[in-house]
Amino acid sequence: MNFGPEQLVHGQPWGHLHGGYFSDPGVARPLVETILKAAQESRPDIIIDLGGGTGFLLSQLRKSGMGAKTGLVDLDSSEAQLSEAGRLGIACARGTVDGFCRREVVPAGQKALFAMRSVLHYSGEAGLTPLLRHIRAQALTGEYWVHQTACFVREEEADGLNALYRKMRTDKWYPALADLRERLAETGWQVESVLPAPALHLDSDELGLRYGLDSAEIRRIGAEMAKEFGAENVIFQLRPGGFRAALHYHIFICRAR
Ligand SMILES: C[S@@+](CC[C@H](N)C(=O)[O-])C[C@H]1O[C@@H](n2cnc3c(N)ncnc32)[C@H](O)[C@@H]1O
Repeated sequence: MNFGPEQLVHGQPWGHLHGGYFSDPGVARPLVETILKAAQESRPDIIIDLGGGTGFLLSQLRKSGMGAKTGLVDLDSSEAQLSEAGRLGIACARGTVDGFCRREVVPAGQKALFAMRSVLHYSGEAGLTPLLRHIRAQALTGEYWVHQTACFVREEEADGLNALYRKMRTDKWYPALADLRERLAETGWQVESVLPAPALHLDSDELGLRYGLDSAEIRRIGAEMAKEFGAENVIFQLRPGGFRAALHYHIFICRAR
């Protein structure tokens, strides 16, 4: 899988990116606690973190006592991300979230719980429903999938973020919350509840590094966004020489119907 210029931030730099959001135990806590609760109820033999990156989420679950009896596996397509997880002693499987087969990661006869944080947007708009369907096909009826996904309560907020990402030349795509709920229901997932999770603030300098944009492009994109969506709102703020954007996350507790 080719991540383009984004590959530069995979591996060792990942934990420092975006104010350390992806390596902050406090930020991860609501998701960790939600996964622990689902695991207490369903008693899985194994937890698979889909697009688990550097293994931080699984390392937090392990700190909370998971992992003694329950297997923890990080499935990701980036070698650089998995090498960091390996350094933490997390078991890794190289594969894609849209192509993996249950039998490759879950030993026969075992019960699984699937986890995920900040991955669904990589599928793009057209790829989202097929991805939800694929993950459902890898789960047994009654198994949990607990995911923290960037999505927006108001459709115009999702439109603003998607416009920004198109301007940054990436196909990543963010749904509105109601749309994601509908797609989950359509693809065989029972959404048991949806909880808020900490927002991620994206500074344009880091976005420039991540998506290969120079300072002139950043200024142009900032000016266009301010013109189209306003210079100061919950998803976008124009700043001297750049801008700041915010991803709003929710935790979805889903069960395979
Ligand atoms: C935003 S990062 C989140 C990493 C991790 N879940 C976390 O919260 O720290 C997205 C991760 O998904 C992985 N990824 C993106 N698309 C993928 C795909 N189709 N299959 C497997 N991994 C994918 C990337 O390599 C990256 O590690």
